[in-house]
Amino acid sequence: MDLFETIAKRASVRDLQPTDVPEGDLERILDAGRRAPSGRNRQPIEFIVISDVDTIKKLSKAQDCIADVSVLIAVAADPEKSEYWLEDVAAATENMLLAITALGYASVWVEGTLLRAEADHKKVLGVPDNMRLMVVLPVGAPAKATAQAQKRPLKEMVHRERYGTPRP
Ligand SMILES: Cc1cc2nc3c(=O)[nH]c(=O)nc-3n(C[C@H](O)[C@H](O)[C@H](O)COP(=O)(O)O)c2cc1C
Repeated sequence: MDLFETIAKRASVRDLQPTDVPEGDLERILDAGRRAPSGRNRQPIEFIVISDVDTIKKLSKAQDCIADVSVLIAVAADPEKSEYWLEDVAAATENMLLAITALGYASVWVEGTLLRAEADHKKVLGVPDNMRLMVVLPVGAPAKATAQAQKRPLKEMVHRERYGTPRP
């Protein structure tokens, strides 16, 4: 899939079904995350691939749809390694979401619901105290047709030369 088509097609899909994710596809998704930019190239992030049914069930306390797939990718970071750790998590997460979409799978950026009980989820995954567990990406098949959420039109958000000057 072409990059621009992938960007337009990526959507938060919460209605997921399990699907086989071959090791080769998983590696391509993780490699997309690995290749993301990071502040000063410090690369403070780690990926945890989860396919154990019990672990998936425990993590689904964050959000139900997690239990509907057979593979998860969690993104953790060490804030002591870089002041830009949060941006680095976001860049890797988006790269992986695009790869997931390009390969025909569906996912959703689970962060808000995960952070409500971050300490519990860290224990489930054995993430050290000094690290943050920020995101879980379920990798599944869409249960129905997907659509990206409505976006603001460019003409409303693009300014030319100075803020407040509309696009011609
Ligand atoms: C930082 C961040 C945190 C998010 N956390 C969650 C979450 O915990 N659960 C969820 O279902 N979606 C979460 N999302 C997905 C957003 O709700 C979604 O991207 C937004 O509604 C726009 O929809 P779209 O992804 O289809 O464009 C999160 C997205 C971002 C960028």
